[in-house]
Amino acid sequence: MTQSTRHLQATDAGIARAAAFLDAGQTVAFPTETVYGLGADARNGTAVAAIYAAKGRPAFNPLIVHLADAATAQNLVWWSADAQILADAFWPGPLTLVLPLRDGHGLSSLVTAGLQTVGLRVPAGVAAGALLRAFDAPVAAPSANPSGRISPTTADHVMAGLSGKIAAVLDGGPCTVGVESTIVGWQNDAPVLLRAGGVPSEAVEAALGRPLQTPDSNEITAPGQLSSHYAPRSSVRLNAAQAQEDEVLLGFGPIDGTLNLSPTSDLAKAAANLFDHLHKLDATGQPIAVAPIPHHGLGAAINDRLARAAATRDQPPPTG
Ligand code: TXA
Ligand code: MG
Repeated sequence: MTQSTRHLQATDAGIARAAAFLDAGQTVAFPTETVYGLGADARNGTAVAAIYAAKGRPAFNPLIVHLADAATAQNLVWWSADAQILADAFWPGPLTLVLPLRDGHGLSSLVTAGLQTVGLRVPAGVAAGALLRAFDAPVAAPSANPSGRISPTTADHVMAGLSGKIAAVLDGGPCTVGVESTIVGWQNDAPVLLRAGGVPSEAVEAALGRPLQTPDSNEITAPGQLSSHYAPRSSVRLNAAQAQEDEVLLGFGPIDGTLNLSPTSDLAKAAANLFDHLHKLDATGQPIAVAPIPHHGLGAAINDRLARAAATRDQPPPTG
């Protein structure tokens, strides 16, 4: 079903309008510091189903729930000393905590995909905070892209993928971090890194005073971590020193290209540019080669997304 998607500015009036759409059970894309999220009322199963429909997302993927503050989180989940340390250190900010649900949490089971845990985060970003305070209830939001496609870091990216499928996009300009949140969960009381993201894992380990474990593959990890994810339409070749034949090159530091993630080798700038540059190079229709990126700090998240973009696909990427 198509609808006309409103492009709202992140003014008081635009934020109030966006909150009213959420109240009415509609889907609204909104800016966070990481990427644009496609939000819906996390308590309303019909509204959450509209997220899955708009994205064409496999129904087994649980969604991250966005909150205005950490106090709200404690009504939904069993809070822990580790959670308090990480919330104090990184919220609002690009960190998601996967914690056990409390009885009577009120979230739609579509949000949790039937799991006994939920991923929560308090996003930074003026527009996200204002929207969450105006709506005053939990907002489920995956990245606002068609499933399997490159994540959006501008309102234009959102419109390119989802126009006609969602009620509105709240335009707060480009996202400052540019890669999704770091996801931390716990297995047998040990903290586990479920997804590398906008908070470097080294910073999480420093705050906790102990190392992050890698997930036990027999347990539920982060189902969104399908290998072919964040995929451009064109093929992607990693660790390229230079472009070959008809390739366009995504450069980094001294390896200059058609576009350069950061000529000064700044990993934070590279993360902020990553999806926008991939969108632009993908639009050329040419194969994409990518210069090597260091693995430390935000480089872990950048390399994770690039590896997924380069993964062989079992089937042609979805259109839309
Ligand atoms: O930065 C972000 O995290 C962005 C913005 C919009 O907040 N959101 C985002 O959401 O990346 P999404 O849905 O694209 O990715 C959510 C990830 C998925 O890999 C999902 O499987 C995992 O979080 N996840 C959510 N709840 C989980 C749970 N209970 N247990 C394990 N993984 C969970
Ligand atoms: Mg996503």
